[in-house]
Amino acid sequence: WATSAHTHQNFLQCLILRSENSSSISEVIYTPTNSSYSSVLQFSLQNPRFSTPATPKPLVIVTPTHVSHIQAAINCSQTHGMQIGVRSGGHDYEGLSYVSDVPFVIIDLINLRSISVDAENGTAWVQAGATIGEVYYRIAEKSRTLGFTAGLCTTIGVGGHFSGGGYGTLTRKYGLAADNIIDAQLIDVKGRILDRESMGEDLFWAIRGGGGASFGIIVAWKIKLVPVPSTVTVFTVNRNLEQNATKLVHRWQYVAAKLHEDLFILVQLTSVNSSQEGKRTIQASFNSLYLGGIDKLLSLMQQSFPELGLMREDCIEKSWIESTLYFAGFPSDESLNVLLNRTPLIRAPFKAKSDYVQEPIPELGFEGIWKIFSQKEAETALMILTPYGGRMSEISESATPFPHRAGNIYKIQQLVYWEEEETVASERHISWIRRLYGYMAPYVSKSPRGAYVNSRDLDIGTNGKGNTSYRRARIWGNKYFKSNFDRLVHVKTIVDPANFFKNEQSIPPFSSGW
Ligand code: FDA
Repeated sequence: WATSAHTHQNFLQCLILRSENSSSISEVIYTPTNSSYSSVLQFSLQNPRFSTPATPKPLVIVTPTHVSHIQAAINCSQTHGMQIGVRSGGHDYEGLSYVSDVPFVIIDLINLRSISVDAENGTAWVQAGATIGEVYYRIAEKSRTLGFTAGLCTTIGVGGHFSGGGYGTLTRKYGLAADNIIDAQLIDVKGRILDRESMGEDLFWAIRGGGGASFGIIVAWKIKLVPVPSTVTVFTVNRNLEQNATKLVHRWQYVAAKLHEDLFILVQLTSVNSSQEGKRTIQASFNSLYLGGIDKLLSLMQQSFPELGLMREDCIEKSWIESTLYFAGFPSDESLNVLLNRTPLIRAPFKAKSDYVQEPIPELGFEGIWKIFSQKEAETALMILTPYGGRMSEISESATPFPHRAGNIYKIQQLVYWEEEETVASERHISWIRRLYGYMAPYVSKSPRGAYVNSRDLDIGTNGKGNTSYRRARIWGNKYFKSNFDRLVHVKTIVDPANFFKNEQSIPPFSSGW
């Protein structure tokens, strides 16, 4: 501690000295002695699993209001041997943006979140600290027929989300958020401010899907907005086992990725209370966005998925921006202003995993999933099946580092939550989700078993403490990036050979050794 206190003091002095405007940087530095330190740390912390007394805390938090503050923080962290955690929305599943086992500093981009929409040219510059809710809101302020393809939960930060991919209801039509980035502003390890032209196409490729935190600090993205109709239709149809859920989910696998690309139907599997005696049953919720009105939707569903029995009364017409509230889980009378609220709807400790499915799972396979979902830990568990196909199958595996394209019919995300006070519960719930993951192995992609970097999971491998080796990183790297992993390592070797930007699952340079 004596050493870290000393390092910490030197680091603070360095920040003040190196910053162009020392008076303004001192207003955005928080240390544990500062009364706002805890609230600044907690504010964007989405998974309280990483907010216990035992969780390592940063020596310093900097909330830059100017790029020169980021440059000073990068420079001083290198001089004083501190690791950096970059946080935009704080939704990293494993808390990598705000936890580390070594002395570290958080650069929290919450103050860098301006958004400027150019509706005429269909583009926007978005600073990394903005949330996707803020992006959706600012686009809708300018136009009701432009939108953007990104996630469902509106408090996700664009810094991490766009760096790892970013899928949502428009993904079958327009691909991922990362597929629609046309420029970026990044600060590299030398403190230089680079744009697409000055960083070059290799680095620009790497930051659009290669996961945040390995190559530099992204300050802003330029995105291409996508056309949306003035009326869209949403529906949610719930079916339990008595209502044929098994057969319907089984059938959904054959149709979801082949549906018209204007139609997106995801499935959420849960175990819900079905009676006052607390009896539980499996429920499948079919959750859909259609880019058009009810009449066309009903006729499309009649042609492609009549088994679901969709009725006109199940459907609601909305504007696209209203549909973002619907998918984020807000009540129907909620004002659009809620998109500007950065506090997540749910903040409970959780563990999540991801998988890709290439062949439909047989009904028997689902019967086994239902058994695991009838165990006690599954009361607060969720399995989300997100359809791919459409635009996702047209983009090549190497166009961006995100490789899970043609050949995948859907993505699975398994999540389990527990109450914050229940410290013992975490082990029980984590064991439960690992059991579920083990059970799923025969039914999902293999060699490698694919995973989504934005559904970060340290169980699939880590760099370990100390020196990262390429061979060790390749274990988790192949799952997230398949053969794109080697190109990511190549880019890293050029732009950050000393491996300054690192964490448990950052891309290593070749120089880290075999
Ligand atoms: P956070 O700030 O924690 O950053 C995540 C990672 O990126 C960290 O490693 C961080 O250091 C790095 N990073 C952040 N900002 C950076 C920057 N400016 N420059 C460089 N590196 C940076 N995903 C999805 O595709 N579709 C969805 O619908 C959802 N839904 C969803 C709901 C909920 C409740 C959660 C918790 C998460 C999701 N996600 C998701 C996953 C989400 O895309 C993923 O967690 C993102 O990485 C979150 O980005 P943040 O900026 O919020 O996280």
